[in-house]
Amino acid sequence: MTRIDEKRVLITGASSGIGAACARRFAREGVDVILWARRLDRLQQLARELQMAGAGDVRIQQVDVRDRAAVNAAAASLVEEGAIPHIIINNAGLAAGFDFVQDGDPEDWDRMIDTNVKGLLNVTRSLLPSLIRLGRGHIINIGSTAGHMMYPRGNVYAATKYAVRALTEGINLDVQGTPIRVSSIDPGFVETEFSVVRFGGDRERADRVYEGFRPLSGDDVSDAVFYVAALPEHVNILDLVVVPTAQRNVYVVDRKG
Ligand SMILES: NC(=O)c1ccc[n+]([C@@H]2O[C@H](COP(=O)([O-])OP(=O)(O)OC[C@H]3O[C@@H](n4cnc5c(N)ncnc54)[C@H](OP(=O)(O)O)[C@@H]3O)[C@@H](O)[C@H]2O)c1
Repeated sequence: MTRIDEKRVLITGASSGIGAACARRFAREGVDVILWARRLDRLQQLARELQMAGAGDVRIQQVDVRDRAAVNAAAASLVEEGAIPHIIINNAGLAAGFDFVQDGDPEDWDRMIDTNVKGLLNVTRSLLPSLIRLGRGHIINIGSTAGHMMYPRGNVYAATKYAVRALTEGINLDVQGTPIRVSSIDPGFVETEFSVVRFGGDRERADRVYEGFRPLSGDDVSDAVFYVAALPEHVNILDLVVVPTAQRNVYVVDRKG
């Protein structure tokens, strides 16, 4: 059994929010980290920060998870260098827009489906055969409470997270007969750049999402991800839903004031 501090983790969407918090958390615990995102400057800054804090091996790769050829090339370079991750955190994702379907922008739908669903599949497909060959590994998908219950205007974003939940269950069945673990962490409201991205850069509108209650932080979610990853290898958390205490279901929130 490999100890967590002898492992290597690949985190997609590591340039911000939950992904960056996971990078800090796993690096602090002595895990080597491979960080993927599109914004290379952010990854470089984070890598410097982690190295200053005494992290082990930190690799960064500029990868758009929607670009299957780029994902396959980055994964192949890890295989060639003998740096196959033990843990893959499929975190890269976004919500784009907040409209009723009848008013929705199909370009937004494409971005969400291509990133949240096809991107997760691209990354998983690029490395899962190596994990199976090595006879070890853990895929951790970042889903959402929006993958359990619909909310008004949630339509396509929630559909992608229902798909993530289906894929977690499906991949878990597909690796039957191997020791590979497949888990999903499904957060509720987390204060990251998520809402700024959703509302096209409108910070004031994004701030209003978290008004009157204390949302989760990226660190809160990275604690849950680390807990799941660090469990003994005969233990698997299939699905872990983590919400702020004030959040009673996907859209019922105790807001003060
Ligand atoms: N915040 C919440 O309330 C919440 C709740 C439940 C679930 N989630 C899920 O948590 C995950 C992380 O979101 P977050 O809250 O941390 O938001 P965030 O701060 O906006 O971070 C999103 C990350 O995804 C990356 N990303 C987006 N598109 C990408 C692409 N095509 N290729 C590679 N990387 C891409 C971004 O990096 P680049 O832009 O540099 O590529 C960024 O690092 C998402 O899957 C989201 O759906 C969030």
